[in-house]
Amino acid sequence: MLLEVYGHGGDVKTASARFGMAAEKFIDLSANINPLGPPPGLLQKLREAMPDIVRYPDPGHRVLLSLLEERLRIRQDCLVIGNGAAENMALALLALKPERVGIIEPCFSEYETLSAQFGAKVSSVLGRAENNFHADPEEIVALIRDNDLVFIGQPNNPNGIQYGWNELCRFAEAAESYSTYLVVDEAFIDFIPEKDRVSLLGELHRYSRVILIRSMTKFYAIPGLRLGYAIAHPDLAAVMRGKQVTWSVNLLALLAGEFCLQAEQKYEDETITFIAKQRQWLREGLAGLGCQTWPGEANFLLVRLPEGWTAANMQKALGSKGILIRSCAMYNGLGERDVRIAVKDQICSDKLLEAMREVMGNRSN
Ligand SMILES: Cc1ncc(COP(=O)(O)O)c(C=O)c1O
Repeated sequence: MLLEVYGHGGDVKTASARFGMAAEKFIDLSANINPLGPPPGLLQKLREAMPDIVRYPDPGHRVLLSLLEERLRIRQDCLVIGNGAAENMALALLALKPERVGIIEPCFSEYETLSAQFGAKVSSVLGRAENNFHADPEEIVALIRDNDLVFIGQPNNPNGIQYGWNELCRFAEAAESYSTYLVVDEAFIDFIPEKDRVSLLGELHRYSRVILIRSMTKFYAIPGLRLGYAIAHPDLAAVMRGKQVTWSVNLLALLAGEFCLQAEQKYEDETITFIAKQRQWLREGLAGLGCQTWPGEANFLLVRLPEGWTAANMQKALGSKGILIRSCAMYNGLGERDVRIAVKDQICSDKLLEAMREVMGNRSN
């Protein structure tokens, strides 16, 4: 049985029960979290703030909003702070009540899960491996035409692909002309060098139906705290905020967000350079083991295992050695040999490659 019993990677509790090892002992390559950890000083700041948990968090998220306003050069009324990017997706669906939602598969499973939870009918187009998982732009425009809301991952999970700036503008214009909402999930965009070239952020004033969703949990390594935000036309942002449960973003998460946005630029630059170098290292190592990977700039790789291996048996073999990988066998458009592996540091990558070499040498499946 696979480890993704809740539909996602990073489930060290399930792994612990399955492999009989303490949860914190695993090298977890099944969730894509910054290997450098949170910005220096954050944990100390949180420890100092512990006595404050006797108070309610600011329901207006005021300090974080003003820091984001400054950093993104976007008005505060265009912003929605959420309990992770995931809450912002739910708020978009709650606020806009789409009857038909379009997705581009393979993609983050919550697009479909949340849409179905909120009663929408989901349809999809497919990005194919032979085309580096880029779906045909004409098909995406048709998807926008035929639905009330369309999700696009930029970069997309689990394959790391990105759409070019001109393509994004074309999709945003199609959304305007067909009166469709376009939700661009930029949860991993902070890992991308010079991200402005692949984000619609600077063009948002031109589009009244585009919502960008960003996560702070991955880049700043705080998934346990939950923090993300959405950027949209003020009218859209207002309806999203109108659906939010008061205090859904907790005091420690707000404080962490404020700290991260004021952290030294060096931490962010180092993360981006580090990931680029480590991704290359991991890609080459995996190629040496006969695995196929695809180009991309995100902090994870989609990996097709050699013939004879399945995600399930590789996940099991590595899990028993204390290494967790994400099976991608359940994604539409992917197959039983596909897994996703996070880019961490060289020690983790070397341990993974060594373990794979061992299990592949020991067994010809
Ligand atoms: C593509 C994508 N978007 C959004 C999320 C959710 O991010 P958050 O932790 O900020 O809710 C994830 C989490 O894995 C993801 O992979």
